[in-house]
This record gives sequence, C-alpha cells and structure tokens, in this order.
Amino acid sequence: MNIQLINKKSLDNKNNLTLKLISPQRLEKAKFKKTLKKAGFKAEQDSLCAMHGKSLLFCGTENHENENLRTVATAVAKAIKNYDYKSVSVDVNKENIQALIEGFILGGYEFNTYKSKSKKSKIKNIYLTCEDVEELAALFEESLIIAEATCFTRDIVNTAPDDMYPKVMAKLAKNLAKENGLTCEILGKKELKKEKCNAMLAVGRASRHDSKLIHLTYKPKNAKKIISLVGKGLTYDSGGLSLKPATSMVTMKMDKAGACAVLGIIKAVSELKLDIEVHAFVGAVENMIGGDAYKPDDVLVSRKGDTIEVRNTDAEGRLVLADVLDYAQDKTQADYLFDFATLTGACMVALGQYTTGVMGHSNRLRHDISKAASKAGELTASLPFNKHLKKQLKSEIADICNISNKPYGGAITAGMFLDNFIKKENKNKWLHFDIAGSAYTETPWDANVHGATGAGVRFMIQFLKNIK
Ligand code: BES
Ligand code: ZN
Ligand code: ZN
Repeated sequence: MNIQLINKKSLDNKNNLTLKLISPQRLEKAKFKKTLKKAGFKAEQDSLCAMHGKSLLFCGTENHENENLRTVATAVAKAIKNYDYKSVSVDVNKENIQALIEGFILGGYEFNTYKSKSKKSKIKNIYLTCEDVEELAALFEESLIIAEATCFTRDIVNTAPDDMYPKVMAKLAKNLAKENGLTCEILGKKELKKEKCNAMLAVGRASRHDSKLIHLTYKPKNAKKIISLVGKGLTYDSGGLSLKPATSMVTMKMDKAGACAVLGIIKAVSELKLDIEVHAFVGAVENMIGGDAYKPDDVLVSRKGDTIEVRNTDAEGRLVLADVLDYAQDKTQADYLFDFATLTGACMVALGQYTTGVMGHSNRLRHDISKAASKAGELTASLPFNKHLKKQLKSEIADICNISNKPYGGAITAGMFLDNFIKKENKNKWLHFDIAGSAYTETPWDANVHGATGAGVRFMIQFLKNIK
C-alpha cells in the first residue's frame, strides 16, 4: 500500500473509500446520524461503520488526540485489508497527519517473509487529502521516514535466528551504509581478540556463528552534537549453559531488538538529514550451548580490564554490552551515549510489557527522554539506581558478578552492572533503555501487531530532532 499526500481537489473518487473520523459528540450533529444509530454505531474509540453504498467508512475516536488517532487508523488499516476498493482517502491537517501515518503503516504492518501464500490487499493507495500540500509536505515526508524505519527495525527482529545471525546482521549494516551514505566498520573474531573484547567473545564462543561488532557512522558537515548508540544484538539467546526453560526460549530471536533499534535510528537520522553525528555500535552475538560454551564459575577479563565472575550464562547481554560500551567510549567522545537492550525479564515484572525502562544518572536527560517519548507515543518509565542495590553485584572472587545475589530489582542491578563500564566523564551523558517488554508482543496493542514493535526508534528520533 502506497501513501500519498494530495490536494483534496485532485482526488479521483472512483472506487475510493472515504474515511470520516468522528467523535461521540460530533456524531450528534452528523449528516447520517440516523443511519449510523440504526447500525448501532456510537463512535466509540476504534469502532468502524461502513456505508458501502456511499463509499464511506465512519471511524470512531474519543477525541482527536494523537494516541486515539493512531489506534483508530490501526483499526482502519486492519479492516480495509479485505475491502474491494482501489483507494482510501482521509482529510489530514498538521495536527493529525503523523498519528494517522503511524496508524496506517505501523498498525497495518505485516511480516510475510515466511508465508508461502501472502494475501494481497486490493487497495493500492491511501490518499491523505488536504487544501495545501506544500504546507504539509515536510511533515508528511518526516512521518513516513520514521514509520518506515520502525518497520525496518521490526523486519530484522522478526527474521528467524537461522536467517539473521551476526554475519548476516553485519552484511545488512553494510548494505544500509551503502544506501544511506554511512561508513561501516565490522570487527570479526580476530579484531575482537585484538581489542580484548573477552566478555563479548565468551558469550558467542559456543555458537557456530562468529560474533561481530558493527560500527556505523553518519557524519554530516557542521554536526551540532555527537551521539553514540549501542545495541544489544543477541541474534539468539538460548540462555547458554544456564539454559532457558523451553517456554522462555520461544521469542528469544527478539534478543537482538536493541541492535535493530539502533540500526533503524541511524537509518532514519540519515534520511532526515539531521545535523548531528551519529555512531551506531552493535554487539552481534549468539548465546548457545556446547563443549566450547562459557560457563557459570568462569571469570572473564572485560575490555575495560575489570574481571567478571559469571554465575549465570543467561545474563549475557550485559557481558556483551560491557565490552561494546567500553569500545564505543574509546572510539568517540560523544555528547550523549544511549544503549538499547532487551536486558531483563525483571524489567517486565517492574513496568509491565509495554513500557521501556530508563536508567542512568542524569535527571535532566531522563526528563528530556520522557518528554520525547510522550510526544512520540511510546511508553517509558524511570527506574532509579541506588547504592544498596549496587552491593548485590559484589563478587567474592572477581571485581563484579554478572548477576545480583538477591531476587529483587533485577532490571536496576543489570543497569548498574552496565554503569560499572561507563567512564566517569560520561556518567551524565549516558542512559540505558531496557526494552525487554516493549520490543516484542504476541498480542496486538496500540499500533503494534504480533511480533517486533520497533520500540526505541520513535522516541529516540523525537529526542534527536530537538537536540540543540
Ligand atoms: N534476553 C534476556 C532478557 C529477556 C527476557 C528479554 C524476557 C525479553 C524477554 C536476558 O538475556 C536474560 O535472560 N536475562 C535474565 C537475567 C537473569 C539470569 C539475572 C532474566 O531476565 O531472567
Ligand atoms: Zn539471557
Ligand atoms: Zn539476552
């Protein structure tokens, strides 16, 4: 389906379905009030009522706030898949255009790579109609870029682990670099050894796929700020020797969602031509079992030099990130450092499965992210560090332990483990985003359908757009 912004006057009404967004209050004054009432339509949020004789689809929305427009557009995107029209049209303005585009694209998203027969929608075009195309053109393009980058992220996350392993992810990054004018550097086993990324290498050791560290750079002239993004790219997390139970292992292809978010963000930033320099660092690793696997009781020497006692090989994301964060800090003196990771089940216990956990030292930065997230329509919440929880990471034999010695506060202790690898001068520039819950869903919510959600992409772009 193709989305176009056109002048209302140039709309070809032949075989076109016109959408009418309507709130319960407005229903009282609607032209077809009686007929709509007969059909039992009350304009409740996300309810739809078609008048095919008149080629109209009434779409109920409580009010015209973005969140509601996004979900009603999602309902429309799903419903029209079976309709036999050539096009759909809806009036847009600068207040509603982004939410509607997100609903249509993200809510209508399908991942059909593995379906042998995919149904083709008859509807070829969605026309966003307005009086003045020029006035909305920039916002239209921008919304499209962001929604499509979110789908790009979703596609990678949704790809099966045997088709998306570290080498494939590196190849995908290279292609993205070529298409979007980025530079791309890949570190394989040899380079990672040279860099002393021993924690990262230990996690991937039992896999038949070698680990890769991917570094993409977008460098415009006169960049205002430098941003480093780090993504956890566990292309599969079996748990390693601390093997996950069978039911918890299903969906663990999504353990690469942090990496995929970072790739989607740098894609969008380069297409939006933002005047900031962005570095994306991805630790692409597969956590498997085998004779060569790293073990509980192993002590790893991280790139930073700190020793880590491994007590659970399923707490692997933090080991990979410890080295990638350290590498990223040495490679670039960034003004902001953000990491994205499906790091802990505990984050879901704390916040529910819809909310990204935000951790770090800077209240100011957390506040700015929270504002960006509300604007972008993503849910985030802050999880506070404290010195008592930090003690739970103490090791008797090494500098730090990879798991906490108590069962509570697991999202925060994981965040504090990462904090151990953040240099003093970067403490206030860094935030950690735990997207364990928000990155993937098996039941649709908001504009998310089954599978990857693309969590992190929209709120980060919203934040980066406003950097001064
Ligand atoms: N990838 C998982 C976290 C996760 C769990 C993400 C569920 C998405 C959904 C991570 O590597 C992990 O297994 N963490 C352990 C940590 C524990 C061993 C301290 C967890 O959350 O159980
Ligand atoms: Zn794990
Ligand atoms: Zn993991």
